[in-house]
Order: sequence, then structure tokens, then C-alpha cells
Amino acid sequence: MKFLNFGSLNIDYVYSVDHFVRAGETIASSEMNLFCGGKGLNQSMAFAKAGAEVYHAGRIGKEGGMLKAALDEAGVNTSLVRVSENVACGHAIIQVTPSGENSIMLYGGANRTIDKIFVDEVLSKFSAGDVIVLQNEISSLSHIISVAKKKGLITVLNPSPFNNVIGELDLSLIDYLIINETEGKELTRLEAPRDIIGALRNAYPETALVLTLGKDGAIYSYKNEYAEHPIFKVRAVDTTAAGDTFTGFFFSELFGGASPYSSLRFACAASAISVSRKGASPSIPTRAEVVDFLNSESHL
Ligand code: RIB
Repeated sequence: MKFLNFGSLNIDYVYSVDHFVRAGETIASSEMNLFCGGKGLNQSMAFAKAGAEVYHAGRIGKEGGMLKAALDEAGVNTSLVRVSENVACGHAIIQVTPSGENSIMLYGGANRTIDKIFVDEVLSKFSAGDVIVLQNEISSLSHIISVAKKKGLITVLNPSPFNNVIGELDLSLIDYLIINETEGKELTRLEAPRDIIGALRNAYPETALVLTLGKDGAIYSYKNEYAEHPIFKVRAVDTTAAGDTFTGFFFSELFGGASPYSSLRFACAASAISVSRKGASPSIPTRAEVVDFLNSESHL
């Protein structure tokens, strides 16, 4: 079984600010950092750092060499990362407040040049039983899902960021749907986690659900299986990529044979460590760091 993450690659420009800039306001930032990011890249890194063998497929602009280099360094197979000439690399402008909250503005750039020809070429290298992981920051998502499903791949979707593209997808083709509370509300128009899970189970009975609830932990639900785990409290420095870290660690553990409960526990610990560090991909811990964290009292 191989993991393929077909996803975004962004250069993150991260600004430390007192508060998020308001309409008509000009503010000064106290610090600026450049990090490797993109929900796709972050999730590939998390898979690799969790110990999984993962291929990343996607497109960068000419100035995006640092993104491929970072994936290579983390042990991700980058043979399916291509350069789109004459298109800017995907990037994000991120504001981070003293409490670690973020606000993100994306420019898709090369991530939006993924076409059906490239999708078919990538998917020709994978077969039934392999796992494909997707987010919502690249073009041709619907085509990827339908070809992947026809080939018998196991489909994992993190519909983030949520927008009208998600409403147009056939979510019954998704084997594992991993969402946060906001995405759950958007998908169901319901508020309470239990109601969100109930509505999604009715609508997509063959889809396993993972619902992350911020400070209230995370839930797994599939047919008669149910597991939940609280968060590990840490001092938040930057929440960027905490969700991506959770996704990579959760599925790496689950497909590695761990129970849903144990996978949730591992993923909650990994994302807690990520929240306590600056940046997107640099904040993702290794598997050994997560094991140490779980064995120690370093969480609050
Ligand atoms: O999930 C965090 C990521 O969202 C950032 O790295 C940014 O690039 C955006 O894609």
C-alpha cells in the first residue's frame, strides 16, 4: 500500500501582529518569517515524519525550489512534483497573533495549473488499495476523485479550505472524510458535533468520519465504531498546520494498523506539539518526538 498526497505547495509569508488587520487599517508587524507550507505539503511532511512512505504530487512555480527541497529532506518521494513555467508559486500571507491564532490569505498560482493530463499521468502510477489524500487547494479535484475511485484507490478528503468546490463534489466517493467543526457546519448546516456526525453518517453511510473540534478534541465515527480523544493542553504559539499535522499522523497510524482511538491519541499529541511551535511545516514533530511527548508530562 502506497500513500499518494495530491496537494498544494505554498510559500508561507508569516507576519507576527498584535491583532488581525481590519478593513481600512494599516498595521506594522513585529516579525516576518518565510516557511514551507500549503495544506498538501504540510500533510505530506506529517505522513513522512510519522514514518509513512508517501509520494507528493503537485506543481510549483520556478521560485518554489525550497518546497521540493523541504519535502526531499523529510523523506517524501517528490518524483511527481513538477514546475509550472511562467506561473507564480502558490503562496500564503499569514498573520499570527500573540495567542497563536492565524488568518490566512491564499494565492493558488501553480497549484491551480493541475489539469486532467497531469492527473491521469500521476494516477497511472498507483493501483487498487493505495491511499490518496486530498485537500481543497488544487485544481481538478473532482476529476482526481473520480479517477482514483475508478482505480480502486482508498480516498481521504480534507475539504479545507471550504468553498463552493466542495459543494460540487460527490462526497459518496470519499472513504475517509476528515473535517473540522467549521467544515462540519458548512456541510450539514448543523451546529452540535453529534448532529453533524449523525447527518453525515446518514448522507454517506460508507464514509468513515473524523471530526476535529479544536479545544474539545477529536471524534472518529464509522458504522458501529466510535472513538473520541481530548486535546493535550499546551501553550499555543502558532496554530498554523496543526490540522495538517493531525491528518498526517492520524492516517499514518490508522493505515499502519493502529486502532481509531490510538490513532486519535497520537494525532492529538502531534498537533499539540505543532501548536507549540512557529510556522507550518517546521512545526511538525517526528514520530519519536510524539512518543516522547506521550511518555512525558510536558503537556500542561
Ligand atoms: O493549513 C495551513 C496551511 O494553509 C498553510 O501552510 C498555508 O499555506 C495554507 O495552505
